[in-house]
Amino acid sequence: GNYSGGLRPQVHYSPPQGFMNDPNGMFVDANGTYHLYYQYNPTGLGAGNQHWGHATSNDLYHWENQQIALFPPEENVFVFSGSAVVDVNNTSGFFPNQTNGVVAFFTLARYYPTAAGPQTQNIAYSLDGGYTFELYDGNPVVDSTSTQFRDPKVIWYEDHWVAVIAYSQEFAVGIFTSPDLKDWTFASNFSYHGLLGTQYECPNLVKLPVRDSDGAVTGEAYVMTVSVQPGAPLGGSITEYFPGDFNGTHFIPYDSATRLTDFAKDNYAAQYFYGVPDGEDAISIGWASNWQYTQQVPTGNLEGWRSAMTAPRANYLQKAARIGKTMINKLIDPAPVLDERLEATTFGNSSLTLDFSHIASNALYIEANVTSLNTTLITGDATLNLTFSSPSSGEALRSGFFFGGDNPFWIDRGLVRGFDNIFFTDKFSAANVPHTDSETGLASWRMQALFDRSICEWFADGGVQAATVLFYPTQPLTTVSLAARALPPGATVSVAVWALKSAW
Ligand code: FRU
Repeated sequence: GNYSGGLRPQVHYSPPQGFMNDPNGMFVDANGTYHLYYQYNPTGLGAGNQHWGHATSNDLYHWENQQIALFPPEENVFVFSGSAVVDVNNTSGFFPNQTNGVVAFFTLARYYPTAAGPQTQNIAYSLDGGYTFELYDGNPVVDSTSTQFRDPKVIWYEDHWVAVIAYSQEFAVGIFTSPDLKDWTFASNFSYHGLLGTQYECPNLVKLPVRDSDGAVTGEAYVMTVSVQPGAPLGGSITEYFPGDFNGTHFIPYDSATRLTDFAKDNYAAQYFYGVPDGEDAISIGWASNWQYTQQVPTGNLEGWRSAMTAPRANYLQKAARIGKTMINKLIDPAPVLDERLEATTFGNSSLTLDFSHIASNALYIEANVTSLNTTLITGDATLNLTFSSPSSGEALRSGFFFGGDNPFWIDRGLVRGFDNIFFTDKFSAANVPHTDSETGLASWRMQALFDRSICEWFADGGVQAATVLFYPTQPLTTVSLAARALPPGATVSVAVWALKSAW
């Protein structure tokens, strides 16, 4: 692949060429190598002809492209989304002489000339640690006549395997159990929860640590995620999640609320790595796009590829005042791709503007910590704004936080002009209250941004809120500015800006 195009992300995964959608089969092996597979059309710039592409990484930022792992087995039968596990104890019998056997689960979707055929669940096994796969001769392992039954995600629970599979148009996640990854028994349905949209896709069931506000682990709980498409509140695709209890066969959410993993439009179908040690934060990666416009974005015609994955996130649950257990999406430390630190400074009500046109990657990592906020003196004018712009075209990607009023954290891509599409909505916002230290009574707020040519991710307060935003400038954005205004006396803003080095 050629990763030099002006819109090509330098610290996010994108395929060598062609069209990519959902992350699939994510697992980490015993050597600490992360395997990422993905829905891949290697021969076109739109969805279809689904294979499983494959890439590996040791640090979740540098990815190495591998050979395509799964191919369409027959004409008009495509390999849809799914997951993978390491069968260390050879429960499947595929791996008598090894502990690194990998089993992949995926939907085979059959198409007739004029209609969709059944979607069935199938497996393939790998004797070489996940690089090449053999189809199991007893497929399908979960048969069906439904044309809308897909995206198996498998985990281990105490003494058996568990699969969650979407009955997409019945708004149900089926929960199945198995002793050996081959024989599956239906156990229960999780149905009609949260946003329905028009379909449920790509469910995940994942165990997460629960942490207190100091970060100490106080327990564990499960989260069910459901990707909804089309029909997201902002249009198209979005992922919702439900914290709750799982007993090996049934998932019971703690409450009836709908919670979203991202407050913008470009984070769908995230998957959680299999094999992360028990008790540790989960690690997830999402597809950074939206079905409403993914097949039109300009990277296709200009550079021959479409879609990137989100940056990796660490996930845990935290109890938030009034709103209950919330899943934190914390950016995994980008240390492996940090280059020169361009700026480190502390100020009050002031601003900073940097020209980074000399940074070859055109990618930055920014942190701003606002501390010593006297909340009794905060007015609705108190803001911190972060803007990336192009001096030559005047385009700008803007964001900011209002410390008073309704506390919106907002992003606006409307002044970037390289893509015109009715569904490519401009503005996103979320409420995010600065948190107050109970001893000092002073509040603080933290923002991180990972800016990468045509994708930027924002994290507020270490991942209490997260947003993934695509933008397509006609000229590279090469100026960054941070400006604090009307903060109460005593407030300090500590800013650090790093250049990123290309991972490609
Ligand atoms: C979600 C999805 C999945 C399906 C795959 C096909 O984006 O529609 O439900 O398996 O894409 O590529």
